[in-house]
Amino acid sequence: KILVLDFGSQYAQLIARRVREQNVYCEIVRHDISVERIAAHNPRGIILSGGPSSVYEDGAPQCDPGLFSMGIPVLGICYGMQLMCQAFGGSVKNTSHREYGHAKIRIAANEDLFGGLPSETDVWMSHGDQVANVADSFEPLAHTSTCPIAAMRHKELPLYAMQFHPEVTHTPLGFQILRNFVIAICECEGLWKLHDFAQQTIAEIRERVGNDRVICGLSGGVDSSVVAALLYQAIGPQLSCILVDNGLLRKQEAESVISEFTKHFKTDLHVVAGKDAFLEQLAGIEEPQEKRRRIGYQFVECFKAEARKIKDAKYLAQGTLYPDVIESGAAIDGPAATIKLHHNVGGLPKELGFELIEPLRDLFKDEVRKLGLELGLPEDLVWRHPFPGPGLAVRCLGEVTDEKLAVLREADSIVVSEIKAAGLYRSTSQAFAVLLPVQSVGVMGDARTYENAVAVRCVNTDDFMTATWSDLPYEVLARISTRIINEVKGVNRVCYDISTKPPATIEWE
Ligand code: XMP
Repeated sequence: KILVLDFGSQYAQLIARRVREQNVYCEIVRHDISVERIAAHNPRGIILSGGPSSVYEDGAPQCDPGLFSMGIPVLGICYGMQLMCQAFGGSVKNTSHREYGHAKIRIAANEDLFGGLPSETDVWMSHGDQVANVADSFEPLAHTSTCPIAAMRHKELPLYAMQFHPEVTHTPLGFQILRNFVIAICECEGLWKLHDFAQQTIAEIRERVGNDRVICGLSGGVDSSVVAALLYQAIGPQLSCILVDNGLLRKQEAESVISEFTKHFKTDLHVVAGKDAFLEQLAGIEEPQEKRRRIGYQFVECFKAEARKIKDAKYLAQGTLYPDVIESGAAIDGPAATIKLHHNVGGLPKELGFELIEPLRDLFKDEVRKLGLELGLPEDLVWRHPFPGPGLAVRCLGEVTDEKLAVLREADSIVVSEIKAAGLYRSTSQAFAVLLPVQSVGVMGDARTYENAVAVRCVNTDDFMTATWSDLPYEVLARISTRIINEVKGVNRVCYDISTKPPATIEWE
């Protein structure tokens, strides 16, 4: 295992992913973790992440200096390098200009950390400070035209550092550098596999649950399906699933979730027909936050009522992912971490009184997809685009009514099916329709129409924090538009949303 100490870097998660891509297990922990706690993790290597601070400022985040003499290899990246430099008596200075972007490093020797690399290679820099002088115990390994010490190594201890970011794709050979550190220097075997993870998790769940019953909220998305699959393989008939049909799902969605479920799992399924209750909550409400709040409230009500009917349930399984755990600001290391309730199941309150099972807590989304395939879930489920908890309500702008939902459902189904037919479903991250509360004049046959407009939203993104609109071929856009206008009653105009996130968001509400 490799530990990443997080100094507040936007890239800490990326470092962890890159390590896991070498089939080496990796965890992110707080920067101030004690040497004793580190030892308890028994890591083969430690990576100090970058961070926004300056090491010479008061209150700059520190690490336990004892970690440098544990005999465990340490790699400092950016801020991590500066910290290592300072800890050994070297000096760190502010450069006159912030360096941000591509740089060329010249490598002193292509061995060890830089084994297999050419003597000159592109790297990605993002820093305001840099190492001015290395301590006597260190030697420089690389430089750029503006950064005399772009990488360094301790002369005796297994301590390495670099000013640039090997974890980003803008450093084309960064993967090789991290591989050299993880495999060659830390001597990790690279045997961590999702298959083992699945088997281990299933065994742990079985052991923890014993003869008790577990409830799992099902949404039809990949996370909750993978949780259900793990639990099913662990405890079979002791699993009860609850699907709240809020009437805000896509065309045929509830039906298809139910038929997939019954095909793969022979266990208890409770479908709550909540449409009327949700629509009642939403009647007359136009304000987006209020819509979300009411949907969240109604979800909890429906879920609670159904869960109460499952008499002997002790546990609640949720699809919390690693990014949720990290984003919640929870102390990542240690059992006392407070966990954000997964927003996909609406944030179920503690008063439900269940103990939580969160088998995906350590995984990234792409790992969850791979795990789903490993567990035998079908490809089209595993690669399903994310769908927000509040469903079509946040894509039906203004007041939500049954009639508007019916129009939106048809338009949305056309968008998705045309994207699929064009072979673009996997390369887009999300594709959907939004029903606008705008009417415009049109002409159909010889008659004037005055009907609604639909916006088509297709985005590409890695992390859903930022996104670009998908550059779809005009023929695909044309087909979507023609079909919606011809086939969906009540719509006479289609627009394509060409806003990036930020400043727009992916959903319209
Ligand atoms: P935004 O609109 O914030 O969306 O750019 C980012 C991603 O989150 C999804 N989303 C939600 N998912 N519950 C969810 O489970 C929600 O309330 C919710 N709101 C937005 C959205 O579809 C996109 O993938």
